[in-house]
Amino acid sequence: MSTSIADLNSRFQIRGAAKVVEGNGGLPKIQITTPNALGEIYLHGAHVTSWKPAGEEQVLFLSPHSLYEEGKAIRGGVPICFPWFGAKADDPKAPSHGFVRTKSWQLESIGQSGEEIILSTASDDNTRALWPHDFRLEYRVVFGTELLMELTMTNTGSSALRFEEALHAYYSVGDAAKVSVSGLDGVRYLDKTDSMHEKSQTGDVTITSETDRVYLHTAHAIELYDPVLRRRIAIEKEDSRNTVVWNPWIEKARAMGDLGEDEWKSMLCIESANVGDTAVELAPGEQHMMTARARVGDISRDSVK
Ligand code: BG6
Repeated sequence: MSTSIADLNSRFQIRGAAKVVEGNGGLPKIQITTPNALGEIYLHGAHVTSWKPAGEEQVLFLSPHSLYEEGKAIRGGVPICFPWFGAKADDPKAPSHGFVRTKSWQLESIGQSGEEIILSTASDDNTRALWPHDFRLEYRVVFGTELLMELTMTNTGSSALRFEEALHAYYSVGDAAKVSVSGLDGVRYLDKTDSMHEKSQTGDVTITSETDRVYLHTAHAIELYDPVLRRRIAIEKEDSRNTVVWNPWIEKARAMGDLGEDEWKSMLCIESANVGDTAVELAPGEQHMMTARARVGDISRDSVK
C-alpha cells in the first residue's frame, strides 16, 4: 500500500463502510460498502466506476479494456466532462471532453455513514495552459439506494467565464439494441452523427445505429427501460438543460482502443449536461451546481418507485 493511500485512510476511512484502496493502474479509489450500496470512485477524474444498490445488479458499465493512466480517461462509469464537451471549439488538439476527467482530484471528506464522498479540484498552471480561467470544482457523490452526483463550479477568477459540463454516465444494459429511453418525446436534438442537424424526437429513443445526440432543453425525468436485465433506471436532474444520449454501435466501437468490439451492446450513455448554447456563464465569485440522480426499479412496476 502506498504512503498516500495509508495517509488518506488515516484521515478519512470509515471503518467497515468506506476506505481508500489501490485501484487499477495503481490509482487510488474509494471503496464504499454500506448496507444500502456498494460503490467505487477513483481520485483520477473523480470518476465513479461502480454503483450497486442493495439487492440490485451493477448499474454502471465499465469496460475491462479501459486504460488507467495519468492523462487518459477511464472508459465507463461516470466521467466528468469540463470545461468543454467533445472537441474544444478553438483547438481540436485539446483533450476531448476537457481536462478534469484525466487529472487527480483531492479527497475532501467521507461522510459518517461512508455513503457521501466529496472531492475537489481547482485551476493550476496545467489547466490555465489549456483554459485561461480560475475555477474550483467540488463533486459530491452519495452512494445510497439512489446515486446522487452533484457538481459545483465556482469562478474563482476576476473575469466572467463560460463553461460546458457533463456527467457522462455509462449505464450497463442487457442489449443496447433492445432498450428504450422515455422522457424525450417531442424534444429537439442536435444529431452529432448527421453534421449537427437539429431534429425532433418522436416517441421513445431506441438504438438502431450509432447514436450521438444532444437533446436540447430537457427538463423531464428520463427512464431507461431494459427488458433483458428486467429493470428500469430513472434519471432525474437539476440545473442541467441538456441530455446527451450516446452509443457508438458496431463500427465506432471497433475503432476504439479502450472498448471491446462487442461492448457497445452492454452500454448506453445518458449524460446530464449543459453544453453548446446552454453553456453556463459565471461572473467572478459566482457558483453553479448541476445535479443528477439515478434510481433502479423492476420492470414489472409501472415506473421506478
Ligand atoms: C459522447 C459524445 O458524450 O462521448 C461522443 O457525444 C463521444 O461524440 C463520446 O464519441 C465518447 O467520447 P470519448 O472522448 O470519451 O471517447
